[in-house]
Amino acid sequence: MQSKPTFRATPVTIRTPASSANLGAGFDSLGLALEIYDGYAAQVSDEAGLDIQVAGEGAEEIRKDDKNLVIKAMNRAFDHMGGKPRGLSVRALNAIPHGRGLGSSSSAIVGGLYLARALVISGQERLTDQDLLAIATEMEGHPDNVAAVLYGGATIAWLEGGVGRATPITVNHRINAVAFIPESAVATSSARKMLPDEVLYKDATANIARSALMVEALSNKPEFLYEATQDLIHQEFRKSAMPKSFALVQKLRSAGVAAFISGAGPTVLALHTGSVTDAQEIARAGGSSFATQILGISRVGAHIYSPN
Ligand code: HSE
Repeated sequence: MQSKPTFRATPVTIRTPASSANLGAGFDSLGLALEIYDGYAAQVSDEAGLDIQVAGEGAEEIRKDDKNLVIKAMNRAFDHMGGKPRGLSVRALNAIPHGRGLGSSSSAIVGGLYLARALVISGQERLTDQDLLAIATEMEGHPDNVAAVLYGGATIAWLEGGVGRATPITVNHRINAVAFIPESAVATSSARKMLPDEVLYKDATANIARSALMVEALSNKPEFLYEATQDLIHQEFRKSAMPKSFALVQKLRSAGVAAFISGAGPTVLALHTGSVTDAQEIARAGGSSFATQILGISRVGAHIYSPN
């Protein structure tokens, strides 16, 4: 049990990136941070109670009490660090679309943990990155998105005795992304229920080879992105929940574009090494069913951020 923490008297503001998980073959292990950011601000007070305001994506549906995911994560972090402040005021400005496979819940979880840590003097000694990742993984249920949100760039994540672990990969500067975001959401919990209990040995082998190749494709040899993003063990099983997204992945891949379902979907992500004009050309493939965003890879994970 840790001694009671000392809280910072001044407000803290942070940002967390969107994330794409799986990246084709690397189911539940590979993650990539993208340049869309949620912003969070918090301040402790001596007056008991919680004051929370949310703006932006999903603001109407999100709970504004201690069941809010950011607040739940903050409370987990405070408990880990030795105690909660008497009063807390939190502001969230969300830009990451919800339920689209772009890591909005991982952003909230890592954001809450990171924010609470930043409010504690020497918080990093009480809650290390490794602790933070372990709690985030437990809350999210899988480590791939939370790892990318915490570290930025691309990440390899795995479970060690059920505990989330991760290491970052330096992403080649030529790589950028196009996201095709459908209007309707798919809950990750439903998408996970669509997966089979077992996969064929040959399909598992194909995915192992490709996710190993993806590490090299992301860092040194982007020319292998197309081959490395081929998946045989999860996307097809989720097809009926996102038929238009699945069809778009096939259309893009037939044209030689390294496209895949982002996380549990239904967003489609395409990685490329071309110019902005090339990205615009790729984006046109989405037609009217998708909102497209031409995105850079976020080189940073969760970080203290001064809006001015
Ligand atoms: N790896 C997870 C899945 C990511 O595909 O279910 C969820 O965002």
